[in-house]
Amino acid sequence: MRTMVDTRETVAMDHDDQRRLQPAQKTVPIVAASAVASDAATDWIDVCAVEDVPLQGARVLRRPRGGDVALFRSAAGAVFALLDRCPHKGGPLSQGIVFGERVACPLHNWSIGLADGQAAAPDVGCARPFALRVSAGRVWMDATELRAGD
Ligand code: FES
Repeated sequence: MRTMVDTRETVAMDHDDQRRLQPAQKTVPIVAASAVASDAATDWIDVCAVEDVPLQGARVLRRPRGGDVALFRSAAGAVFALLDRCPHKGGPLSQGIVFGERVACPLHNWSIGLADGQAAAPDVGCARPFALRVSAGRVWMDATELRAGD
C-alpha cells in the first residue's frame, strides 16, 4: 500500500517559519510500516527499497505513534534515519538540503549530522537517530523502535 505523506501537518511552526519553507519537492510516496512484511526471526521490518530514498534527498516514514521518521540518502548512497524534527524549533529535516553526511534544516539552517542527529557547533541539540540496516537493496528498521513514541 502506498501513501502520500505531508510532513507539514505534524510540525508546529510560526508564520516566519512557514515562509522559509521550500515546497515539499522531496516528499515522495512511501510504504507504510504497518503494510510491509516483517522478518519473523528478528524485530526488523522492511520499510522500503534503498532506491526509494532519493540520492541527496529524503523520504518520510509515518509511524503509528510518535513523530515521523526521515530517511536520508547521501550522495555516496549511505542511508540514515532521524526523527523528522529539528532539535532547534521542530523544523521538518526531511525538507532540508542533504550535503555530505549532514542535512541543513530548511527553517534556520542548523546543520544536523545524519549518523548521530547532533547539531554542529555552536548550535546544540540532537535529532533522535533510528537504527537501520540495508540488505539486498532494502532498508530495514527496528519495529520496536518505530512503534515506540518519541
Ligand atoms: S527549526 Fe530552526 S534550524 Fe531547524
